[in-house]
Amino acid sequence: ESATPDSPIATREAVPDTTPQTQRQIRIFDTTLRDGEQSPGASMNLAEKLEVAHALADLGVDVIEAGFPIASPGDFDAVKQIAETIKGSTICGLARCNEKDILRAADAVQHAEQSRIHVFLATSAIHREFKLRMTPDEIVRRAVDGVKLAASRCDDVEFSPEDACRTEHDFLCRVVEAAIDAGATTINVPDTVGYVTPAEIYKIFDMLRNRVPNMDKAVLSTHCHDDLGMAVANSLAAVAAGAGQIECTINGIGERAGNAALEEVVMAMKTRGDFYDCTTRINSERLVPVSRLVSKVTGISVQRNKAIVGRNAFAHESGIHQDGMLKERSTYEIMSPEEVGFAKTDLVLGKHSGRAALADRAKTLGFHIDGEELNSVFEQFKLLADKKKEIYDGDIIALVQQKISTS
Ligand code: KIV
Ligand code: ZN
Repeated sequence: ESATPDSPIATREAVPDTTPQTQRQIRIFDTTLRDGEQSPGASMNLAEKLEVAHALADLGVDVIEAGFPIASPGDFDAVKQIAETIKGSTICGLARCNEKDILRAADAVQHAEQSRIHVFLATSAIHREFKLRMTPDEIVRRAVDGVKLAASRCDDVEFSPEDACRTEHDFLCRVVEAAIDAGATTINVPDTVGYVTPAEIYKIFDMLRNRVPNMDKAVLSTHCHDDLGMAVANSLAAVAAGAGQIECTINGIGERAGNAALEEVVMAMKTRGDFYDCTTRINSERLVPVSRLVSKVTGISVQRNKAIVGRNAFAHESGIHQDGMLKERSTYEIMSPEEVGFAKTDLVLGKHSGRAALADRAKTLGFHIDGEELNSVFEQFKLLADKKKEIYDGDIIALVQQKISTS
């Protein structure tokens, strides 16, 4: 444990790492470049997509969903180039469940170190009747044909019954069993419209594990949207019920209200390993840099109070909190900022700050003040803080120098 001028707060981990070796490893499937890019205003050019793909591979994601090759020539080129360049992650292309889409996706991913085609077909009654106008039997036949074709063209196939969480359980089980028999090795269960609650999604995953006879031949995956603000909670509930893969995006960008945020699901499992009993391959120190990169290339800013990567995520302004932090950081921090890629904890000086934080910042700036001197500077500091949102180092230096020169 050490305190440095740069980091007045001890740098040891807030919570001891009690990770047992037997933890389940959860695959992280990143869809920033596909579902994320579908958020209004988030489109990226080829160079930007390649940069993000490199950053995702460095971050340690298991699968990169690089795009939807049939959607446009630009999407096809991006998936193809990512497949040809990126090493260390499976590269996946999305396809609707028809021959044209699947063959286009196969062309795009064919040179990947490990290639995946993600085939999707809606299964809920609403989608069957109003969108596809297909009977349940036709859906099953289409799913089987699509998965078989995809399996003949790439290393592994993922199948998604779109709107799975609003699909009748009997029919969902029937489609999933047929898709696994046809060769799907990952079954993704999307909450396409962000409708379910954590308790419900837990039951759906539990039900699939108990009722689908060949479920042990495939990895169950969760893909949650945030329309009711529950995408992360739902993803974690699915993991608790046996999901082995989480689909998510950097900063939670995605269709409408977005997808489950990668940084949040990863840090929840890491910080609460005692509860989830699972781990990931993610190099968490890369989370903040990747978040910044995605924000820069999409133009979608990250709100200050965003969990894990927001500017305020490790900033403390209240005097009581700052005092506690200076004594022992685990009083108010459940993870360390360094663990997610921030340089250090930020004790923001403002009107809620106390004497201890002021003296500490002055010390970092090279001034030792205590006793009456500290009281006097503190009084001036509070007057200033009432007028300004944030107090900068320059303000502190001015206050201390003013005091020194008048005493
Ligand atoms: O939300 C969704 O259903 C999707 C599918 C393509 C998996 O993004
Ligand atoms: Zn989606």
